[in-house]
Amino acid sequence: MKTDQVLLRGRILSFTAEPKGPEDRTAYRYIEDGAILLGGGLIRATGSYDQLSRQAPAVPVVDHRPHLLMPGFIDTHIHYPQVQVIASWGAQLLDWLNSYTFPEETRFADPAHAEVMAEWLMGQLCAQGTTTAVAYASVHEASVEAFFSAAARRDMRMITGKVMMDRNAPEALRDTPQSGYDASKRLIARWHGKGRAGYAITPRFAITSSPEQLEMAGALVAEHPDCHVQTHLSENRDEIAYTLSLYPEAPDYLGVYERYGLLGPKTLLGHSIHLEPREIDLLAATGAKPVFCPTSNLFLGSGLFDDAGLRARGICNAVATDVGAGTSYSMLQTLNEAYKVLQLQGQKLHPLRAFHWITRGNAVALGLEDRIGTLEPGTEADIVVLDASATEPMALRMARAQTLSEELFVLQMLGDERAVAETYVSGVPQKRGAARVRQPELHPA
Ligand code: GUN
Ligand code: ZN
Repeated sequence: MKTDQVLLRGRILSFTAEPKGPEDRTAYRYIEDGAILLGGGLIRATGSYDQLSRQAPAVPVVDHRPHLLMPGFIDTHIHYPQVQVIASWGAQLLDWLNSYTFPEETRFADPAHAEVMAEWLMGQLCAQGTTTAVAYASVHEASVEAFFSAAARRDMRMITGKVMMDRNAPEALRDTPQSGYDASKRLIARWHGKGRAGYAITPRFAITSSPEQLEMAGALVAEHPDCHVQTHLSENRDEIAYTLSLYPEAPDYLGVYERYGLLGPKTLLGHSIHLEPREIDLLAATGAKPVFCPTSNLFLGSGLFDDAGLRARGICNAVATDVGAGTSYSMLQTLNEAYKVLQLQGQKLHPLRAFHWITRGNAVALGLEDRIGTLEPGTEADIVVLDASATEPMALRMARAQTLSEELFVLQMLGDERAVAETYVSGVPQKRGAARVRQPELHPA
């Protein structure tokens, strides 16, 4: 139990609701000379520096002025065995999986390799200001162990699960309906709810699971309704056609997951790009969450996510990097590409909604807004410190910026790891304030 208190001073921004428009001042709290009192890994109070420094006079102050303090970013879809797949040339989804991704994921059969990559990723996420991620592990049980262990060492709130896949993948990456169920069950018992760990039941997608395996995944969901569920949906036209050929009785792609009881408010559906009207009705009815992965959707040429269309139906969209098809670990760069994807469709992503999305918005999508994504007292002390003048082009642009929204838009379009001055996880600095994690020893492919 961490009891040490510390007072962070800086400009404070946190959201209390989704901003309705580009100037919706009712949706956020901004304090020019603000402070956050941390203690025991939690946020104890958020307010003006003047007030909090008088309330807690003996507490050491870390002065982050003139930087902006916000809740840590949340990435709702990333593949941790793909950190050495990022930037692999030339293919769209199915060829990309077969040519690059599946061969790479076989390396996670080695627990030592998984440990090195998991440890590296935690350091990288902290460097990027991301304090929570929902990750796919590999099919190997030990890959989940490695990931949760690395997260626990930094006390990070992380969600992951063993990928279940029993067909249309290399032999070395296949489980069986029974072994996939048993391993998931063991991992849930060992990790779910332990410290800040959460388990996601993870059938990779309909193509790589037999009907028997999806049935077993549905049994897990019924037995563990407090776990998340993650899979992929309608990312690519060839993927959809292949899925429907494997499940000819299904009314559509989402109907496959519906049939096996995989849909509910805790279900995260990566991509969800090419949807039929019935599928959209089903998303609205079940509360399942589409996950927008802009850099990945552009990189693999998958298509344009219809954020406004889904939102108009009351559907809650999450946003994510999807590394290694995604091309950046940065949620800021993810917002940059999200802005452009929406521009191509005549939709707008204004900066207040953008920063709400990667903090409270993704927390709401995960059902975790009572713990992360805001700076409310009693929530977990995951905080990012942002410098909108971190690079020369940013500083030059900032010299002409007059409003908070302008500053946020500079961060959204030009920001990356360099704009993250510090990242606190459970109240502990993990970037400049911590010894940086060593780069892993690189082995030839
Ligand atoms: N569909 C099934 N597996 C994957 C994956 O690893 N990445 C992406 N982008 N789509 C998938
Ligand atoms: Zn994915």
